[in-house]
Amino acid sequence: MTGKPRNRQLAFVLFFLVLATLALAVVLVGANFLPNASNQGYAPEQPIPFSHKRHAGINKIACAYCHSGVERSRHATIPSTAVCMNCHTVVKVDSPHIQKLHQIYREGKTFEWVRVHELPDYVYFPHKRHIAKGVACETCHGDVKQMDRIVQHAPLTMGWCLDCHRGVTTPKQVLAKIYPGMKNPHGAVAATNCTTCHN
Ligand code: HEC
Ligand code: HEC
Ligand code: HEC
Ligand code: HEC
Ligand code: HEC
Repeated sequence: MTGKPRNRQLAFVLFFLVLATLALAVVLVGANFLPNASNQGYAPEQPIPFSHKRHAGINKIACAYCHSGVERSRHATIPSTAVCMNCHTVVKVDSPHIQKLHQIYREGKTFEWVRVHELPDYVYFPHKRHIAKGVACETCHGDVKQMDRIVQHAPLTMGWCLDCHRGVTTPKQVLAKIYPGMKNPHGAVAATNCTTCHN
C-alpha cells in the first residue's frame, strides 16, 4: 500500500520530463539548432547520364512535359521511357545511351532512377498547392536548367519549410499573390500547425 502514491508521483515526474523533452526538441528542430539529417548537396549518379541542362535548358523542354503530375497532384512524377521515345525514336539514335534507352523500352522496363529528394514518410508535401500559389521550381530545386546532374539544392528540413510558411523567406511574387494590392506584402503564407505536414 505504501508504494502506490510514490509510484504515482514518479510516473508523473517521468511524464512531465518526457513532455518537456519533446517540447524542447520541437523548438530546437524548428529553429534549426539540432543537427538534422539533411541530404543537401546530394547528387547521385543515375543509370543513364540524363542532363536537365540539355533538355530543360538548351532545348527548352517545359518541366511539366516530363513531370506531368506537378500541377495537379502531390507528386511531380518521373517520366516513363515512352515519354523519352516521343523524341528519341529519331533524336540521337546513334548514341550508345539512346541505344540503351531503346533496349529498355523494347523490354518494357524502366530506368531505376536514384531518388534525389526524399522526405521521411511522416511528412506530407503536396506539389500542386505550391505551384498554384506561384512558388517556382527553382525556389526549392535550384537552377535545374543549368544542371547536368540533379543535386538537392535545399536542406528540406522542417525549419526550412516553416520559414517560408511564416513569410520569412517567401519569394516576393508569392507574397504579392497571397496579399494582392498591398504595397509591401508580408505575413504568413501557409498553415504552420503540426497536422498541416504531419498526419
Ligand atoms: C525530358 C524530360 C524532363 C524534363 C523536360 C525535365 N525533367 Fe526533371 N527529371 C527527368 C528525369 C528522367 C529525372 C530522373 C533522373 C534524374 O534525377 O536526373 C528527373 C529528375 C528531376 C528532379 C529530381 C527528382 C528526385 O529524384 O528527387 C527534379 C527536382 C527535377 N527533375 C526537376 C525538373 C525541373 C525543375 C525541370 C524544368 C526546369 C525539369 N525537371 C525538366 C526528366 C525531365
Ligand atoms: C522533347 C524531346 C525530348 C524528350 C522527351 C527527351 N529527349 Fe533526350 N534529348 C533531346 C534532344 C534534342 C537532345 C540533344 C541532342 C543533341 O545534343 O544533339 C537529347 C539528348 C539526350 C541524351 C544525350 C545523348 C548523347 O549521347 O549525346 C540522352 C542520354 C537523353 N537525351 C536521354 C533522354 C531520356 C532518358 C529521356 C526521357 C526521360 C529523354 N531524353 C527525353 C530531346 C528529348
Ligand atoms: C515548395 C518547394 C518545392 C517546389 C516549389 C517544387 N518542389 Fe519538387 N520537391 C520538393 C520536395 C520537398 C520534394 C520531395 C518530396 C517527397 O519526398 O515527398 C520534391 C520532389 C520532386 C520530384 C521527385 C519526386 C516527385 O514528387 O515525383 C520531382 C521530379 C520534382 N520535385 C520536380 C519539381 C518541379 C518540376 C517543380 C516545378 C514545377 C517542383 N518540383 C517544385 C519541393 C518543391
Ligand atoms: C518557398 C515557400 C515554401 C516552402 C519552402 C514550403 N512551402 Fe508549403 N506552402 C507554401 C505556400 C505558398 C502554400 C500555399 C498555401 C495556400 O494554398 O493557401 C503552401 C502550402 C502547403 C501545404 C498545404 C497547406 C494546407 O493548408 O493544406 C502543405 C501540406 C505544405 N505547404 C507543406 C510543406 C512542406 C512539408 C514543406 C517543406 C518540405 C513546404 N511546404 C515548404 C509555401 C512554401
Ligand atoms: C510546413 C511543414 C511542417 C510543419 C507545419 C511541421 N513540421 Fe515537423 N517536420 C517537417 C519536415 C519536413 C520534417 C523532416 C525534417 C528532416 O527530415 O530533416 C519534420 C520533422 C519533424 C520531427 C522529427 C524531428 C527530426 O529531427 O527530424 C518532429 C518531432 C516534428 N517534425 C514535429 C512537429 C511538430 C510538433 C509540429 C507542430 C508544432 C510540426 N512538426 C510542424 C515539416 C513540418
